[in-house]
Amino acid sequence: MAIAELRGVTKRYETGSEVLEALRGVDFAVEPGEFVAVMGPSGSGKSTMLHVLGLLDAPSEGAVLLDGRDVTGLTDAEQTRERKRSIGFVFQDFSLIPTLTAVENVEVPTLFGDDPGAGERACALLRRVGLGDRLDHRPDQLSGGQKQRVAVARALINAPRLLLADEPTGNLDRETGRRVLEEFSRIRAEDDVAVVAVTHDPRVSEFADRTVDIVDGEIRE
Ligand SMILES: Nc1ncnc2c1ncn2[C@@H]1O[C@H](COP(=O)(O)OP(=O)(O)O)[C@@H](O)[C@H]1O
Ligand SMILES: [Mg+2]
Repeated sequence: MAIAELRGVTKRYETGSEVLEALRGVDFAVEPGEFVAVMGPSGSGKSTMLHVLGLLDAPSEGAVLLDGRDVTGLTDAEQTRERKRSIGFVFQDFSLIPTLTAVENVEVPTLFGDDPGAGERACALLRRVGLGDRLDHRPDQLSGGQKQRVAVARALINAPRLLLADEPTGNLDRETGRRVLEEFSRIRAEDDVAVVAVTHDPRVSEFADRTVDIVDGEIRE
């Protein structure tokens, strides 16, 4: 069964009198442990699709399913709980907090609950992504690739079954981008985490099990 699914999803943005259709009848599903690349040019609706899939944004029409369960009608609080339980995000700009160390940044998603093991898990995840010697560094003391790997570790802190990444190689040089993609492949293979990466970088496809194209808010498999 698909771990996450979009069924006939349309997303409209209304700004003043303008209505923009960012997604048009999108059907999409990702299986457990699958790495899917969603490719499309700038403005094609990639970030919107990822936000709807990750329950950060509501569809105008259609449904979002997690583990076969329709979660579209849940309250914000219920959606937040679902998101925390099963989804990790890697944002395009990393979104690290500049005053916190690497370990503290990785712990951020655990801060709103009682989670005494979070510090130990954060250290273990950072070691796993090769940052064991950077635990107490702040973001301004890290390279772009290291920041990206901190963001990946943070996305994994609640042991999600689905990792969503927006332009994961967008701000990285070639070699660093490759290492991040290898990390995704490893997470997928070792932990059975499904990965959906939206990108305009063709290199991401080389690492993915499957590539889906999105053009003007429509999916072309
Ligand atoms: N919050 C918003 N309000 C209005 N329009 C938006 C908003 N977010 C995205 N859009 C528009 O929706 C379209 C798709 O955007 P986006 O999903 O960010 O595409 P991509 O990530 O592929 O570049 C674009 O035309 C963009 O300008
Ligand atoms: Mg985008």
